[in-house]
Order: sequence, then C-alpha cells, then structure tokens
Amino acid sequence: MIAVLQEIESSYGYLPAWALRQVSEKLELPLTQVYGVASFYDAFHLTPRGKHLIRVCLGTACYLRGSTRILEALERELGIKDGETTPDLEFSIQSVRCLGACALSPVMIIDEFYFDKMTPTKINSVLKRIQEKNEN
Ligand code: FES
Repeated sequence: MIAVLQEIESSYGYLPAWALRQVSEKLELPLTQVYGVASFYDAFHLTPRGKHLIRVCLGTACYLRGSTRILEALERELGIKDGETTPDLEFSIQSVRCLGACALSPVMIIDEFYFDKMTPTKINSVLKRIQEKNEN
C-alpha cells in the first residue's frame, strides 16, 4: 500500500480523497486503514501543497534565536498558518525540528534553498526573490 500511496503522492503532490477510495477498493483494504497509513506518515499529505514549500526550523537553536517570530511573519505575509497552503497554491508553510544547520540559525528552507540567520524583516525580500525566480 505504501508504494502505491507514494506513487499517487508523487503524481499529484498529495493524496486526493478519491485516490484513497480507489486504493481501498483495488487493494481490498478498509478505507479507514488506507486513511490511517496516509495520515500517519509525514511524507503523505491529504490536502494540496503549494508549488513552494517553506520549512521553518523551530528546533532548539533556531527557537532560541527567534524562529517563532519568523514563522509568525511568514504566516502574516502569506495569510496562512503553519501546515496550510495559500489559495493560489504557490506556498505551503511547514514548521520542522532542526534542519541540521544550527550554526546558521535561525534557518528556513524554501524548496532546496537555505536562508540562514533569518529575521522577520527579511521575509518580504526572500519571498520576492522566490517570486522573481518563478517569473524567469
Ligand atoms: S535547530 Fe534549527 S537548524 Fe538545528
């Protein structure tokens, strides 16, 4: 079942409800069991994800250097909360615990790009840079 769910996740970027029903039917497994697996693993998502995933570290080093203020600034700027996606499907925010770059804290990652020593005032310019990359 996990391999099938991974395939669907990689095709759609999340696991649509209709796909979970089909997995349940085709594999002859209770839908509750399929949902149980889909909701257990962080690798699976039950709602659509944004084109750009913003991961904000709330690990100890980053937390002590103010990463919650960065998360709050992002939430304000994008109008969504941690774990949510913007209505235009451009951005998703996900808080994480330690990105392995504690010396550069506070850290956030957008897609594969690290942004170190972040401050709430840098949020606007970072988001603008990402949007400009989109346009090019
Ligand atoms: S605690 Fe944030 S990178 Fe380690």
